[in-house]
Amino acid sequence: MLKITIDRDLCAMCGTCVLSCPETVFVQKEKKSIPDIIHEDLCISCGHCVAICPQEAITHRDFPQGSVHQINLDIFPSPEQVFELIKARRSIRAFKDKPVERDLIEQIIAAARYAPSGHNAQSTEFVVVQEKETLEKIVESTQLYLSKTAKQLRNPLIKNLLLKVAKYEIEGALHLMNDFDRIVKEYNDGKDAVIFGAPCVLFFHADKSINFSDVNSSLAVQNAMLLCHSLGLGCFYAGYVVSSCKRDNSIHHLLSIPNNHQVYGVLAIGYPMFKYKKWIQRRPARIDWK
Ligand SMILES: Cc1cc2nc3c(=O)[nH]c(=O)nc-3n(C[C@H](O)[C@H](O)[C@H](O)COP(=O)(O)O)c2cc1C
Repeated sequence: MLKITIDRDLCAMCGTCVLSCPETVFVQKEKKSIPDIIHEDLCISCGHCVAICPQEAITHRDFPQGSVHQINLDIFPSPEQVFELIKARRSIRAFKDKPVERDLIEQIIAAARYAPSGHNAQSTEFVVVQEKETLEKIVESTQLYLSKTAKQLRNPLIKNLLLKVAKYEIEGALHLMNDFDRIVKEYNDGKDAVIFGAPCVLFFHADKSINFSDVNSSLAVQNAMLLCHSLGLGCFYAGYVVSSCKRDNSIHHLLSIPNNHQVYGVLAIGYPMFKYKKWIQRRPARIDWK
């Protein structure tokens, strides 16, 4: 059965589907002719053809009725509104002792899913953690990883060996040693500087063998962060949890994340204790105009 069909009676022969398809599925042999579907096998199910056709002449097996929606231009934010949201988002590290409602988490994940992904792979998968004990275990595993790494990097033999296998990563870690020590010390003093007591932690993971799965997840994270902020929630990228997942499999085990998957992003989410009323200017962009 064909995946894509063009209704020949409805088609206006405008060629928009040909121009918007990223994979040359369609070809228009002459101007003002009905396009032919020549490479259906290349279709990545991005839905551009269905979304762009002004005549609604294209049907696609992967987008049955009810899966194609009108864009609501009445609620489209202005560039100023988008930029204000972007500037107002800050990493929040002080949370109210209040759980995040499930429907809000679902909205955050929905926003993440609309990020672009290489070849429309939509590779990112999610784990939502709200159980107190599991959150505590994540913090414990992360600080153990930081403590172990700091010890290893203080051993000249191990340090030099690691520098040989992962030069840049280890050089980066060496700059963060004080941070590692501080987080471990705070943990031993009963403080959580890993997720800062966030009541919800959202993991972004994906099959490592999928091209660009790391980038796909990072883009999904940014969408999620912006939606989080617009919902009145706060979040921050818990980088040390990501590093711990990369180097140590205890969190993978804890959350039953498959071995062939990697955690590419972790957001600690909750209701912010404080709301920022000001945004702060960034450093000037380093741009090389050619
Ligand atoms: C890759 C990455 C890792 C990060 N890791 C941490 C982290 O482990 N702990 C933390 O408190 N903040 C972490 N952050 C948040 C940054 O510190 C923060 O984004 C930066 O200081 C800019 O502040 P802003 O997000 O409020 O604009 C991380 C951010 C990124 C992008």
